[in-house]
Amino acid sequence: MLEMKREIIPPFANPDIIPPELREKSVPAHVAIIMDGNGRWANSRGLPRTEGHKVGELALLDTVAGAIEAGVKYLSVYAFSTENWRRSPAEVRFLMGYSRDVLRARCDQLNEWNVRVRWSGRRPRLWKSVIAELERAQELTSQNTGLTLVMNLNYGGRAEITDAAQRLAMDVAQGNLNPERIRESTFGRYLYLPDVPDVDLLIRTSGEQRLSNYLLWQCAYAEMYFATLAWPDFGRFPLWEILTEYSGRQRRFGGAREEIEKS
Ligand code: IPE
Ligand code: IPE
Ligand code: MG
Repeated sequence: MLEMKREIIPPFANPDIIPPELREKSVPAHVAIIMDGNGRWANSRGLPRTEGHKVGELALLDTVAGAIEAGVKYLSVYAFSTENWRRSPAEVRFLMGYSRDVLRARCDQLNEWNVRVRWSGRRPRLWKSVIAELERAQELTSQNTGLTLVMNLNYGGRAEITDAAQRLAMDVAQGNLNPERIRESTFGRYLYLPDVPDVDLLIRTSGEQRLSNYLLWQCAYAEMYFATLAWPDFGRFPLWEILTEYSGRQRRFGGAREEIEKS
């Protein structure tokens, strides 16, 4: 399989290939990606779904390199949702084992790239060996100052909001929080990663146009981009194209300004 042999090109291996307009225009601080389409990518080539997940690893590393080059500060990636437990036991087992192995195998590489790895998701049900690798990666890279890579593993937006509400309610019950003083910012402090800013740009690959329970709170004002490419075909070039398109968008956050056309 040719695709499996794609080598990993580190960030800034060839600075001339970054589109110059990207350097001048506004780059989103936080990009979130729903890495979708692995199974269909593989099946359409006569391969089992798991082969798509494997090629997805290379797409992820290339995308991380491209995000670093473009100056993105936070990259969140949806690797396993709280709903993905509904898949066949064999696929779940593969995804758990593969997540663990990828983290183990790529941690040093990411560390060399000055990437800070962070995990966002629910602990119950997640394999202990996956949690161990996530925590090892977090520990190893905790002092890194480059891109923050948020791995959303066993993550669900509703689960996160429910967990936040539960912890907030406990603080109220224990008398540590006055319910009359709860603001949006108060609630935000109970999310899994309260210091990570809202999402500026949400990308979903594979043509599906839905959120699938991803970062519901953080995407309140995210710009959205639905790419037709399947995740295994994604990488730095498609990312840069999308970032270039994003730089031309006008974000209003509910505000407005007078723009009367001259006739
Ligand atoms: C995304 O690809 C990877 C995960 C959800 C873990 P899919 O496995 O959802 O592939 P499709 O969408 O069925 O093609
Ligand atoms: C979303 O993709 C979850 C991840 C990419 C990890 P799914 O493939 O699970 O979403 P649906 O089922 O198509 O909505
Ligand atoms: Mg899918």
